[in-house]
Amino acid sequence: MDFLTIYAEQITDSLNAVLSAEDVIQLIEKPKYDDQGDLAFPCFTLAKQFRKSPAQIAKEVAEKIEHPFFEKVEANGPYVNGFLNKALVSREILQMILKAGGNYGSLAIGEGKTITIDFSSPNIAKPFSMGHLRSTVIGNALAHIAEKCGYKTIKINHLGDWGTQFGKLITAYKLWGKEEKVKEQPIKELLSLYVKFHEEAEADQSLEDEARKWFKRLEDGDSEAQALWKWFRDESLQEFTKIYSLLNVQFDSYNGEAFYNDKMKKTIQLINKMGFLTQSDGAQVVELKEFDLPPCLIMKKDGATLYATRDLTAALYRNETYQFEKALYVVGQEQSLHFKQVFLVLEKMGYDWAKGMIHIPFGFILKDGKKMSTRKGKVVLLEEVIEEAIQMAKKSIEDKNPDLLNKEEVAHMVGVGAIIFHDLKNERQNNIEFSLEDMLKFEGTTGPYVQYTHARACSILRKTKHDGHYTDISGLNDDYSWSVIKLLMDFPTVIEKSFIHYEPSQIAKYLLDVSKEFNKYYSHVKILSNEAGLENRLGLIQSTTIVLKEGLRLLGLKAPDEM
Ligand code: ARG
Repeated sequence: MDFLTIYAEQITDSLNAVLSAEDVIQLIEKPKYDDQGDLAFPCFTLAKQFRKSPAQIAKEVAEKIEHPFFEKVEANGPYVNGFLNKALVSREILQMILKAGGNYGSLAIGEGKTITIDFSSPNIAKPFSMGHLRSTVIGNALAHIAEKCGYKTIKINHLGDWGTQFGKLITAYKLWGKEEKVKEQPIKELLSLYVKFHEEAEADQSLEDEARKWFKRLEDGDSEAQALWKWFRDESLQEFTKIYSLLNVQFDSYNGEAFYNDKMKKTIQLINKMGFLTQSDGAQVVELKEFDLPPCLIMKKDGATLYATRDLTAALYRNETYQFEKALYVVGQEQSLHFKQVFLVLEKMGYDWAKGMIHIPFGFILKDGKKMSTRKGKVVLLEEVIEEAIQMAKKSIEDKNPDLLNKEEVAHMVGVGAIIFHDLKNERQNNIEFSLEDMLKFEGTTGPYVQYTHARACSILRKTKHDGHYTDISGLNDDYSWSVIKLLMDFPTVIEKSFIHYEPSQIAKYLLDVSKEFNKYYSHVKILSNEAGLENRLGLIQSTTIVLKEGLRLLGLKAPDEM
């Protein structure tokens, strides 16, 4: 039930269609104050055309509109304010949500279209960084939101599993590595081998030559080099998989940089044939002077390919394999230049589909105002951070609800949910301060607060033993209910906006609003006190659980029924 459209159509009619309903929709605002109704149409832009004052036009439009969904339509200065018929509208909305269940809010804007989402994409033999955590959480939410909008999604983990650093790693392992140590703590051990390589190479130049030789052997398919590379990759992937399963994130493809090794030659030939490859200091580049950007490096002097070469090749491959409408890259803002260059090279090559490629940048995670780094010596192991959040959640559950049956499971949902929500409630470009205590609070703007509100609503439904079939919904017209209903009604629009802006925070903020209004409702309205209208109140509560649960799911959080 789209009341915005109904209102817009009514206004269009009363204006003898000088504006289309779509134009009117663009102009309609939400009034700031409740006494100004639910929808407001400003008449400023029409004054010239009608040669009348906006207030006069508003008055004339208001007089003409009559529709059962509107209790009252009145002019307020230059605005036409529409007051929805609370009982009727709430009946329609509740019936619709209860019928649709988890499908409420699903849209068709992406039907028949595919989006690839390149996210997480950590580097082999290196720790999973806080930046990768952000990419994982944001990318996963965007995938859910896109699916909710009707798109088919391809979730791609573009692993950093290729490049000259693997020559260094193999060299270091051959000189100083121990098999058992790598097996015990793969990431820690491989990282320290890598660090040692750089320390030793400062004094001993021959190490760099050795590393180059090993990388060359790897590229040429040498079996020893390949076996070591594959082992490092498998061990790392096993560590990453632990994190993904804690976060409940899955991928459709793990084709990382190495996957494009045998496909890059063709890319380079293609760029060359089109006449875009130029020499610069012995390297092969694509000039981007016309865009005021430094050239995009395609091939080094020694014939080695680069990160950009692999991304160009991956783009060609993905276009061919998936025929995407959009290709999203959820990668930190420090790689903005790289993606600008890659996209522009493809546009220069004449590929129209490159216009659908979008870099989705995000800010840093800070600890006490400083960038939280997993590199440079002190390794914060993400897995340990997540486990700690789960333990903390378990403690608060034990305090609050010691009799809860599935404490472990709920603690997992709450601990992980706290981390995810804390990330997503902020606009993604902002930096965020990492504090486990803050994110795990059951009040305020946290994931556990939304989960708790959901569980609270579920517990009322459990108490009444309602069977979930609602046959007697007649509508509600008190203000507390109306505040909740109005928000529930917005869910589809919020989903669409958050998709258009690639901004999961809009859903997170919305869920906080719903929770706040619902808790107000809950503390002011006697829900179970009498039979009259009970079905309506329960319907409202059930609808709230549907929206909260589905909204949380979109963000990547579970919603326990009890906590
Ligand atoms: N592995 C890269 C890093 O950790 C991120 C890769 C992002 N995806 C891409 N297609 N370049 O910095």
